[in-house]
Amino acid sequence: MKAGARAMVGAVLMMVCCSDSNQEDNSSSYSNDEIPGARRHNKEFYLSAAAVFRDEDEYLLEWLEFHLCMGVEHFFLYNHHSKNEKIDELLGPYIRRGIVTLDDAVCDVHCQVPTYQRCMDDHGHRSRWMAFIDIDEFLMPSPPSQGQEQPGAFPLRAALTSYESHPAVLVNWLTFGSSNHTKNPPGLVLENYIWRAEEPSEVVKSIAQPDRVQVAGGHNHRYKNDEPAVNEKKQEVFFNHSSGEPPSVSRPASVDILRIHHYRTKSREHAFHRFERDSIFRLNDFDNEDIYPSTELSQMEWISK
Ligand SMILES: *[C@@H]1O[C@H](CO)[C@@H](O)[C@H](O)[C@H]1NC(C)=O
Ligand SMILES: *[C@@H]1O[C@H](CO)[C@@H](O)[C@H](O)[C@H]1NC(C)=O
Ligand SMILES: *[C@@H]1O[C@H](CO)[C@@H](O)[C@H](O)[C@H]1NC(C)=O
Repeated sequence: MKAGARAMVGAVLMMVCCSDSNQEDNSSSYSNDEIPGARRHNKEFYLSAAAVFRDEDEYLLEWLEFHLCMGVEHFFLYNHHSKNEKIDELLGPYIRRGIVTLDDAVCDVHCQVPTYQRCMDDHGHRSRWMAFIDIDEFLMPSPPSQGQEQPGAFPLRAALTSYESHPAVLVNWLTFGSSNHTKNPPGLVLENYIWRAEEPSEVVKSIAQPDRVQVAGGHNHRYKNDEPAVNEKKQEVFFNHSSGEPPSVSRPASVDILRIHHYRTKSREHAFHRFERDSIFRLNDFDNEDIYPSTELSQMEWISK
């Protein structure tokens, strides 16, 4: 990341495995075939991510750098009417290095699912796995407990190798609130917001194999031959085909192997701003959930000063 760009993230943190991210040439140092057992099937990427975003300037670079460290090799980003004009400046270096493909979302309202479908149609054939997440979601393996083998570089790619026989793995959320911040503090989201709900949410997001998806969905998809997705423990997630919609939850929720840290509100000011814009929060919920009771620092395992 360029020094200027890093300053815009507002922090001097280096992601642990991204010490080579200063290079500005086109070589994708994040792509390698060295992950044992990872079968790319002659695709350009083993793992890519798709996201639709709107007005996320402050957060994009942290999100990109974090997921590069986790092992995401390429990002298909779809701009949904962001107001500012800095997107090209922010993402330019990543686009030139072949790490980001930037496009516009395909419609005006309720755009996520049609845009995911477009992404699968246009780019699905290029990637063995594709994670469908938002910019306020950080996808990561759960840190190993003591005595377990420490993960090497690109731990998310390594974790996925054991799910290759399934069309998708569904990952539960851990939901974070404001951590009592009124305004967004400078610095990294991962550092600033450390209080989360005690229990993981049943809600999931997917990491899917586009080749095996029949129809794209938001949290989960419909898969070819009615194959079921699995949760992190490789249990099939029941899909009631007569009700039509692929399930967006996995019960019981668990985050022992994989998790998504979902920074749902960030500061109160930010949350109210989003509430006004998108009506995504019911304010009553927000009052209850604003300050979650549990401290979570596992995300810090993946970053270091
Ligand atoms: C990087 O890519 C750009 C555009 O694709 C090209 O013009 C440039 O020569 C490349 N640089 C290197 C070092 O390969
Ligand atoms: C949140 O911040 C307010 C005002 O700074 C303080 O009075 C309150 O004790 C804090 N709450 C928690 C749970 O730390
Ligand atoms: C599946 O969905 C149908 C239609 O919504 C419903 O009638 C049925 O009870 C559901 N089956 C199960 C096992 O949940």
